[in-house]
Amino acid sequence: MSQLANPVNWILAAVLGYISYSYFAPSATPPPPTPRPKLPTLVFREYTPKELSEFDGRTPDARILMAVNGKVFDVTRGKQFYGPDGPYGNFAGRDASRGLAMNSFDKSMLAPLDGPIDKLEDLKEDERSSLEDWEVLFDGKYQLVGKLIENKD
Ligand code: HEM
Repeated sequence: MSQLANPVNWILAAVLGYISYSYFAPSATPPPPTPRPKLPTLVFREYTPKELSEFDGRTPDARILMAVNGKVFDVTRGKQFYGPDGPYGNFAGRDASRGLAMNSFDKSMLAPLDGPIDKLEDLKEDERSSLEDWEVLFDGKYQLVGKLIENKD
């Protein structure tokens, strides 16, 4: 009887109860993930470098296009790479061919938007082959949505 009257035992019983409850009680269910609105698939078309630059992931729909060896790919699903905060964000909306060939994401790899398309004629054998390897990766991973053509004006 004296044991029941001891407040220390009451406290210990409360602590024990709380610990067992937290151990066995079902954990709170996490909130369901917010569904990402799916962008409509683009119809294949031609893009000039200037037009391509509009798809740099900074628009409200955050679509990202990128050119590789004359092909335009929708790389939106790789936004962790090409998004505004991604490591290869410089390639978003641009012709990334020279950068991929020379293994550099430096801005100097990008041809001016209002100039002619980079003909890549100076690439060495290994650089050309590196670009082709990247092209194979993009062919397999991203949707081909267009072809890069010269600026009109
Ligand atoms: C500092 C050295 C670098 C590191 C540590 C690095 C790391 C990575 C990693 C971890 C991935 C993801 C691979 C995967 O899970 O699919 C990746 C992909 C990629 N990297 Fe790098 N990288 C480096 C340099 C570069 C450079 C210099 C370029 C420039 C061409 C580059 C272009 C790419 C591209 C285009 C992808 C593919 C993204 C995709 O799948 O769309 N990386 N890199």
